[in-house]
Amino acid sequence: MIKKINFTVNGKKRELEINAGETLLEIIRKRLHLTGTKEGCGVGECGACTVLIDGTAINSCLYLGVWADGREIVTVEGLAKDGELSKVQKAFISEGAVQCGFCTPGFVITASALQSRGHSLTDIEVKEELAGHFCRCTGYQNIIKAVKKSLENETAGTGGDHT
Ligand code: FES
Ligand code: FES
Repeated sequence: MIKKINFTVNGKKRELEINAGETLLEIIRKRLHLTGTKEGCGVGECGACTVLIDGTAINSCLYLGVWADGREIVTVEGLAKDGELSKVQKAFISEGAVQCGFCTPGFVITASALQSRGHSLTDIEVKEELAGHFCRCTGYQNIIKAVKKSLENETAGTGGDHT
């Protein structure tokens, strides 16, 4: 069954006709060609496909495209503003949290959602928040450091920024 959806992706309004069974991940990668969002497991285990949906980090491989109707989606391509990487992206680079990079967009998206909550987290809390993400390369320590760095100077109630 074909369905029409209207949604916003990285600030741009989009109207698409999709198959009712298509996942948001398929739409993002195959129709919109935003291939920064990765497909790892395809079954909700690895976190590589994570995107922001109305500000919440969600596995797009488990999310039907029809559910995206009327929603605001942000992929890793939408985090930089005016050509400048976000605070989270910069922290991943400065802390050496990227090796092959396959997992990185998912981690960065989840870290961006954490940043928007506007407060710092302990190591344990960061580990809990990242529990849905797998990385085969880094051993996680630098990723945890990067996430903590990206949350530095965030004050409760102010919301995050992308500077
Ligand atoms: S591809 Fe979605 S969680 Fe692995
Ligand atoms: S950097 Fe390679 S899987 Fe994480």
